[in-house]
Amino acid sequence: MAERLRVHRNQLRILSARCLHAREEEAKRIAHLLHDEAGQITAAGHLALEEIGRQLPASGRDRLKQLKTLLGEVEERLRQLSHELRPTVLDDLGLDPAIEFLAAGFSARARVPIAIKGSTGGRLDPLIETAMYRIVHEALTNAIRHARARRVRIQIRRGRGRLCCSIRDDGVGFDCDRLLSGPGRKGGLGLLGIRERLDALGGRLQIRSSPGHGTELQVAVPLRRRQ
Ligand SMILES: Nc1ncnc2c1ncn2[C@@H]1O[C@H](COP(=O)(O)OP(=O)(O)O)[C@@H](O)[C@H]1O
Ligand SMILES: [Mg+2]
Repeated sequence: MAERLRVHRNQLRILSARCLHAREEEAKRIAHLLHDEAGQITAAGHLALEEIGRQLPASGRDRLKQLKTLLGEVEERLRQLSHELRPTVLDDLGLDPAIEFLAAGFSARARVPIAIKGSTGGRLDPLIETAMYRIVHEALTNAIRHARARRVRIQIRRGRGRLCCSIRDDGVGFDCDRLLSGPGRKGGLGLLGIRERLDALGGRLQIRSSPGHGTELQVAVPLRRRQ
């Protein structure tokens, strides 16, 4: 019985890892589409507007300028979206620069200082890099959205065949036992998603939080070298 349970659990883990992989591939595909195709269309839009501008009397050029600004904003938003879906810096440079980039964006938008301590010590298995990136993204989203934090600290450490990461905020905190396992369980998909990603990699999540005392997520993943 225990053996069958173990086998089933293993199968579930494999299935979950495959689903996550498929999701990432899909995100990559949409990110490229958004970046390349939508980018080409907006670039063509800019050219067309230039052309119209040359034929317009001076009085009509102000409206055209507004249109150009709007098109520029759409372009920038599409670029951001494609980047959030699949940050190329993660593929090209790895987790440390990607987390720095992510934290800088959150920090600027929310006006909350985010300190990063430690490092991953080099490139890792892409599955681990992607999972960690998504986890830190969710933790920062929660710290800004729910915690109303005044500051956030990310700590990354590699040791004893594991990658450990802690994301701590000084915000309102929450009763995680009640939220995650109580009878009226009403946790959102974010923390659940973090657990799923970690399960697929044989990793662990610990949440320390209590109302009024901030929140810390501690994540540990067994390491495999980049293949
Ligand atoms: N850093 C945090 N500070 C305060 N509350 C949090 C924090 N992270 C999560 N929570 C609480 O846990 C709940 C579940 O979070 P999550 O699973 O990420 O779902 P969602 O963000 O979609 O609500 C949140 O709605 C919030 O009440
Ligand atoms: Mg969330």
